[in-house]
Amino acid sequence: QTVYLKDYTPVPVTVSHVALSFRLDPQATRVSARLTCKRKGSGDMVLDGEMLKLLSIAIDGVPLAADRYSRTDTTLTLYDAPDSFVLETEVEIAPEDNKALSGLYMSKGMYCTQCEAEGFRRITYMLDRPDVMATYDVEIGGDLPVRLSNGNETGPGTWHDPWPKPTYLFALVAGDLLATSDRFTTSEGRDVTLNVWVRPGDEGLTAFAMDSLKRSMTWDEEVYGRPYDLSVFNIVAVDDFNMGAMENKGLNIFNSKYVLASPATATDADFANIESIVAHEYFHNWTGNRITCRDWFQLCLKEGLTVFRDQQFSQDERGFATQRIGDVLNLRARQFREDAGPLAHPVRPESFVEINNFYTATIYEKGAELIGMLRTLVGPKGYDAGCALYFERHDGDAATIEDWLACFETATGRDLSQFKLWYAQAGTPRVQVSETFKDGIYRIDLKQIVPDTPGQTDKCPMHIPLAFGLLSQDGTETQATQVHELTTETGSMTFEMSAKPVLSILRGFSAPVILEFEQTESDRLTLLAHDSDPFNRWEAGRVLAKDRLMRAVTKDAGFDDAWLNAVAALATDELADPAFRALALALPSEDDLAQSLYGAGVVPDPDRIYAVRRAAQLAIAARLRDALPGLRDAMATPGNYDPKAEDAGKRALAGRLLGLQTMLDGGVAARTAYDAADNMTDRMAAFANLLEAGDTTVAKQFENDWQHDRLVMDKWFMAQVAHAAPRDAVTLADTLTRHPDFDASNPNRFRSLMAGLTAGNPAGFHNPDGSGYKFLADWLLYLDKSNPQTTARMSTAFDGWKRYDADRQDLMRAQLQRISGTEGLSRDLSEMVTRMLKS
Ligand code: ARG
Ligand code: ZN
Repeated sequence: QTVYLKDYTPVPVTVSHVALSFRLDPQATRVSARLTCKRKGSGDMVLDGEMLKLLSIAIDGVPLAADRYSRTDTTLTLYDAPDSFVLETEVEIAPEDNKALSGLYMSKGMYCTQCEAEGFRRITYMLDRPDVMATYDVEIGGDLPVRLSNGNETGPGTWHDPWPKPTYLFALVAGDLLATSDRFTTSEGRDVTLNVWVRPGDEGLTAFAMDSLKRSMTWDEEVYGRPYDLSVFNIVAVDDFNMGAMENKGLNIFNSKYVLASPATATDADFANIESIVAHEYFHNWTGNRITCRDWFQLCLKEGLTVFRDQQFSQDERGFATQRIGDVLNLRARQFREDAGPLAHPVRPESFVEINNFYTATIYEKGAELIGMLRTLVGPKGYDAGCALYFERHDGDAATIEDWLACFETATGRDLSQFKLWYAQAGTPRVQVSETFKDGIYRIDLKQIVPDTPGQTDKCPMHIPLAFGLLSQDGTETQATQVHELTTETGSMTFEMSAKPVLSILRGFSAPVILEFEQTESDRLTLLAHDSDPFNRWEAGRVLAKDRLMRAVTKDAGFDDAWLNAVAALATDELADPAFRALALALPSEDDLAQSLYGAGVVPDPDRIYAVRRAAQLAIAARLRDALPGLRDAMATPGNYDPKAEDAGKRALAGRLLGLQTMLDGGVAARTAYDAADNMTDRMAAFANLLEAGDTTVAKQFENDWQHDRLVMDKWFMAQVAHAAPRDAVTLADTLTRHPDFDASNPNRFRSLMAGLTAGNPAGFHNPDGSGYKFLADWLLYLDKSNPQTTARMSTAFDGWKRYDADRQDLMRAQLQRISGTEGLSRDLSEMVTRMLKS
């Protein structure tokens, strides 16, 4: 049951208005729907519906005879529907039994919904596809104190949404909830009530989310000219949620992890996530809701663009360099990995089995990079003009990537036909760079290689914007940033110069490519010390570190003074931003090294990578031994905790330094720091270090202190597994699954424990005895029965299986085969294991 982009056809009968009436009950919720329908072409009307008990069906008030329609497990087909009519159905559903968390379900006694991508069909019969846009009237009966839906409230529990929307943006929330409220006046003078709804007990944890919302609203008006368009904006925090959050029109529903925060319970990273996810969902109001997607193949139209917008927002709020470096780290860790393995797919896929499997780093994060490249190519003014045209031309539409690109072609006159290949060709391009200097001519040669990916070979050259600048050997910038557009397989540039310059290429990470450039050590050190482009300054240090670590793995090389001194110089550079220093001190992750080794044709050994990283940390720590205490003191943030970037940067650096200190003192400083911590950032840093140092009491202490707080306990589960010694990790993870607070039906808890192992402790997951693989497979098979979405997502931990040695490959393949051979697998998990095994 594969769906293809090329098969897209509009519906023969559409729905322009939906009136819903709910009588809520955990086991027997009644949903009455009145759909205003209109014929647009010939053919039967086929409505979607799953797990619905049909109680009645009528057209224009007349009960429908049995021969006028038919049903399957997933459809309801109307024969000979008239040209315009009202279809009325009544169905019964059981939200309490809905453990897939898709459609209408219950979380801690509260009713809530998740309809993207195809959850609405689990609520009532409807054309559950994004190109059918309707206005809605919703009535929620009963006496629950809070009853919310999309749009504006017209009476207690009744809602009208005037903006036509697809089903996936529908939402309903009902229960015993409390709001933190505020107001916002839009640039158009609209008075908007803002509410953040939580369960009683959590009302003290909403201030930062509310503040983030107001800043997002202002930013979208100022930067994109997009004001809000209803008189109320509701955010609801839900404990059981498959994803991060959802942009339902006027009623955003969030995983509580991305709403609730206090200094005592949330880390700086949590605060940053809340800020960017609140912004992301709010920004969807224009990029996603007012202009939506024609079909799910166009998912990146709303997601890539909205991620790009939230990244821009975070850059403005928190500083360009640290935000950009963090975004690139995340892209490489998740998207480059995906692009290099069996799950690689284009930013706009051409087929899928289960669309929920395509809410991926490629569609989101690479999709965002494509918007960034487009902006680089047409320039900031051209970008603004293209966006303005997009909002003007397509407001109210279900649009495509072609529609989007056409706006930029019209607004700027540029031909984007080759650029469009970025949407169709999967795989991370490699760009090889070489340089020569002879007789006063400096020459750069470029070559691009677009790798084969599943189902795609022999690709065309891409349109790659390469931002670059030149420095003199003493570090002075001699040529400011300009953009070279590489459009053919090979290219070159020449410059007349009196001496060989230092090349700073791919500034700001101007394209999502892997650079292959054997730059001299001294040039890299010059960039590390002087590049005016902060991204490339960081990148130079990164490349130096990676070189060392790769050589230590493959050739047993030691760590040289030149490098250790450069690292120490950065760590102690009081003129540099602490956040930047923290990023510069962070070594490439174990998985990053495994990826790079595999890319270089070396079979990665997880144990060796683990050992080499620790050795490098120890060498750095030893080099900084005398400076460490003073450096840490200098990073103190006295006074009340403030989540702002400046203090967060200091805490990040302090945390790194504590990690180094722990390599030297076995946890003495970490113990002091743990006992003194007055915020969760410092506490988690100390906790992690104590665990690394083998402290046997701190886990119990942490548990006693935080047992009552579910979001903090997620951290407890994750950190213990992530920081266990590799040989103990699987056993510990297994033991923790029997802890009374482990609850696999809660996605946050399940992910914390599983990802603590698979992502947090690669050497533990890849235990040569295969126990990590079996542990994960057992849990995937268990959870697949109730929650296929979260299961399928977690199964991606196996996507790197081809990188490893023959023994590990056999062990992983065996688990994948065991899963794929299991009866009754969900469509979600079965598609994932099939794709992973196929390669
Ligand atoms: N549109 C949401 C966001 O980007 C993601 C929700 C996806 N949910 C799903 N079950 N596929 O914020
Ligand atoms: Zn989104």
